Amino acid sequence: MKKFLTLTIAIIMAISTTVMAGDIKLPAPQRMGGMALSEALDKRKSQREFDNSRSVSPQLLSNLLWSAAGINRPEDGKRTNPTALNTQEIDIYVFTPEGVYLYDFKDNSLKFMVEGDHRALVAGTKSFSQDYVLDAPVSLVLVANIGKFERKNDFNPMMAMADAGIVSQNINLFCAANGLATVPRASMDSDGIRALLNLDESFLPALNNPVGYAK
Ligand SMILES: Cc1cc2nc3c(=O)[nH]c(=O)nc-3n(C[C@H](O)[C@H](O)[C@H](O)COP(=O)(O)O)c2cc1C
Repeated sequence: MKKFLTLTIAIIMAISTTVMAGDIKLPAPQRMGGMALSEALDKRKSQREFDNSRSVSPQLLSNLLWSAAGINRPEDGKRTNPTALNTQEIDIYVFTPEGVYLYDFKDNSLKFMVEGDHRALVAGTKSFSQDYVLDAPVSLVLVANIGKFERKNDFNPMMAMADAGIVSQNINLFCAANGLATVPRASMDSDGIRALLNLDESFLPALNNPVGYAK
């Protein structure tokens, strides 16, 4: 009887872990409507106080990720964010209290990467950390895959940083237009993030944007 109970508990735990650890299909992004761009520009500002009791809905997250770096021309796979030589080297990792996911822009889904709350790596390092990041329900970490540049040269990291800046500004403007708070950040534990996600040195964590509702 004891053996049976232990086995049942183990099976239930395995099932619940599988459910928590799965990929997440996002609702289709709403690509039309919203605030005028000039108004969003007028409202854009860095915000560093987040209401930790409010999450971002799946629909809003889908709209946000599409605005950041989704496909806007399906006929040739081009994106809302321009990139140098159309390299499309900026990946978006979504850090949540439950786990870390990679935005799959082709499938409009979140690919499960690692379980658990790893937002402290986004907040910073032991020597410099900004704890307000821990109150934001979601942090989008923009990682440049430098290996995607066809011609290897010293300018690749610089191009990647410029490309990440554009994605970050898409996020800043989307947030301003949709009542969300965010701040573009360079601070984070880049080595820790690389180690967590099993990324080698050719991946450059470039910028991040914590996102949520202002307190
Ligand atoms: C490339 C870049 C890196 C930044 N890094 C950080 C950061 O690590 N932490 C932070 O709190 N703000 C960071 N910021 C936000 C700036 O401090 C902020 O944009 C600036 O003070 C101007 O304020 P505004 O965004 O409200 O206009 C960064 C901004 C940029 C563009």
